[in-house]
Amino acid sequence: MNNNYNVTPWEVTGKVDYDRLIEQFGTQKINDELKKEFTEISKIPPHVMLRRGIFFSHRDLNMVLNDYKEGKGFFLYTGRAPSLGMHIGHLIPFLFTKWLQDAFGVNVYIEITDDEKFMRNQDYSLEQTREWSIENILDIIAVGFDPDRTFIFQDTEYIKNMYPLAIKIAKKLNFSEVKATFGFDNSSNIGIMFYPALQIVPTMFEKKRCLIPAGIDQDPYWRLQRDIAESLGFYKAAQIHSKFLPPLTGPEGKMSSSIPESAIYLSDAKDIVERKIMKYAYSGGQATAELQRKLGANLDVDVPFQWLYYFFEEDDDAIAKIAEDYAHGLMLTGEIKKILANRINDFLSEHRKRREKAIDIIDKFKFDGRLARTMWDKVHE
Ligand code: TYM
Repeated sequence: MNNNYNVTPWEVTGKVDYDRLIEQFGTQKINDELKKEFTEISKIPPHVMLRRGIFFSHRDLNMVLNDYKEGKGFFLYTGRAPSLGMHIGHLIPFLFTKWLQDAFGVNVYIEITDDEKFMRNQDYSLEQTREWSIENILDIIAVGFDPDRTFIFQDTEYIKNMYPLAIKIAKKLNFSEVKATFGFDNSSNIGIMFYPALQIVPTMFEKKRCLIPAGIDQDPYWRLQRDIAESLGFYKAAQIHSKFLPPLTGPEGKMSSSIPESAIYLSDAKDIVERKIMKYAYSGGQATAELQRKLGANLDVDVPFQWLYYFFEEDDDAIAKIAEDYAHGLMLTGEIKKILANRINDFLSEHRKRREKAIDIIDKFKFDGRLARTMWDKVHE
C-alpha cells in the first residue's frame, strides 16, 4: 500500500494515519459503546488515555471484558527491549497496564528482551543489554505495579522455563511467513528470526485470555500469535493498542532513543528538560507573537500541546482551556512550552523518587514476590 508513513516494530516514520492503520492491520476501533461497556464493568472512570483515544484500537477487548464478567478472569502482558535510557513515550503502555491491574486486580507479566536487543544490533554486547535491563526494570517498577501480582523477567534468565513452549511455537511458524511479517532478508541473523517465538510465549503463560497493552508497532507479533494459539490449546491474544507520543522535533514518526533531541529521557535533569522543550519542541504556533495573537496555533502539529493532551494534563477542563486559548492566539508558544516543561519536571521528580525505592524491591518482581515464585516453579509446555 502506498502510504506517507510506515509502522513496523523497528521504525515509525511519517505522520501516521491511525484510522487507516486500523484497516491495514485488521484491528477494531475502540468506539464509544466499548468505552461505555468498559466503564460499566471496571466500575471506575476510564483512564485519561482511554478517554482521549490514545489507546484507540483493539482486538477481542470485548471478549476479555466478558471473561472478566463471567468470572473466568484474564491476565496482562507487556514488554520492553532494554536500552541505555527509557524516554517518556516508553512509559505510555506501562502506565496504562498498571491502571488496568488496579482496575481488575489481575496478574501482569513483563518481558525484558535482553536477547532481542542484543541480536538486533551488532554493536551491542550481551553484557550491555543485561545492564540496561536492570536500569529499565527500575523505571518500570517506579510506575507502581503490585509486587505480588507482577512478574518481570529477562529472557536470558527465564529461558529454561520458556524453552519447551518456545520450540512448539517456533515449529508452527515457517520462514516465509516470518520473513514477510518482519521484512527479514538473507543478511538477518538466525537468532532474530527465532526471536518472535519468544515474544509469543508469554501470551500463553496462563490458560486464560491474555490482554496486551502496547504501542501498535508491536502488532505483527500478535498477528502470528493469533494464527497459531488455538492449535496449541491457548487463547488468541487480545490487544489494546496505543498511538505514539510524537517526537519533540515534529509530529512525524515516534520518539526515538537514538535521537537525543527528539526525546525526554526519564533521567533528564530539570534544566535539560527546559532547554530541550524551549529549543526543540516543534511548534504549531506562528513565527511572531504578533502573528500568533492574530492567527493562533495549529494544534494538530503542535508537539507541546500534544504532549499535554496525551500525558501531562489529565484535567479535561484545563486541556480544553489551553486548546481554546492557544488555538485563538490568547496563549503564546513560549507560554505553552513553559507549562509543559514544568509538568514534565514535576512528573520526573516524583518518578525518580519512586525509582530510588524500586532498588529495594526489584527482587520481589524478578524472583520472590508471590507471582514470581510460582513462575520460577513452572515450566511452560
Ligand atoms: P520497545 O522497547 O521498542 O517498546 C516498549 C513499549 O513502548 C511502546 N513505545 C511507545 N509508545 C508510545 N509512544 C512512543 N513514542 C513509543 N515508543 C515505544 C512500544 O510500542 C512498546 O509497547 N519487542 C518489544 C519488547 C516486547 C514487548 C512485548 C512489547 C516484548 N514483549 C509485549 C509489548 C508487549 C520492543 O522492542 O519494545
